[in-house]
Amino acid sequence: MEVPALWPYHAVLMITGFLLLSTGMLIARYMKREQWWLKVHETIAISGAIIVISGLLMAIYMVSSSTGIHFRVPHTYLGAIVIIFVAMTPILGYAQLKSESIGMKIRTIHRWSGRIALVLIFLNMLSGILLVGIIG
Ligand code: HEM
Ligand code: HEM
Repeated sequence: MEVPALWPYHAVLMITGFLLLSTGMLIARYMKREQWWLKVHETIAISGAIIVISGLLMAIYMVSSSTGIHFRVPHTYLGAIVIIFVAMTPILGYAQLKSESIGMKIRTIHRWSGRIALVLIFLNMLSGILLVGIIG
């Protein structure tokens, strides 16, 4: 199968975004003893989310300027689901801090939405790598 020539730009953005989001998650998990953890978690996670969204825009552009057929392969469907979690998680992150009453419930959802986002990004990264034929 032909893959769009611009794929390396898309892949680099997605892999960088994944690394930032993973770092953000590890800080929330293991650095809570430090008083700076929340600020750093927030900044790194938001940067990761922005880079993943940029990777999405790159993907849409690259498909438009090659085959023009969006949603051609399963990678794109999983990619669309990934984007929903990556957009939703930071919103929940801020929301949990705004509301005292339902903050704890939102916190649980934020944690799970973040974890699911990371697992799905990882799987879609593998699917992208298989798609372009670096491995497999
Ligand atoms: C990890 C997160 C990733 C996400 C969320 C993601 C998401 C997407 C989306 C939504 C599209 C479809 C764009 C459209 O149809 O308009 C796409 C296409 C594509 N992605 Fe990714 N991607 C990721 C990683 C990767 C990686 C690491 C590679 C390569 C190593 C890759 C290679 C490709 C290729 C070749 C296409 C074009 C498929 C086609 O020709 O229809 N992706 N990606
Ligand atoms: C896409 C971006 C984000 C991801 C993937 C993410 C992911 C996570 C994950 C996985 C945890 C749980 C860590 C653990 O296992 O203990 C967590 C905790 C937390 N996150 Fe985020 N996060 C993101 C953005 C944000 C933002 C923007 C804020 C707002 C300041 C935020 C605030 C928090 C807080 C307060 C906790 C602590 C909850 C607790 O465990 O007590 N997060 N985040």
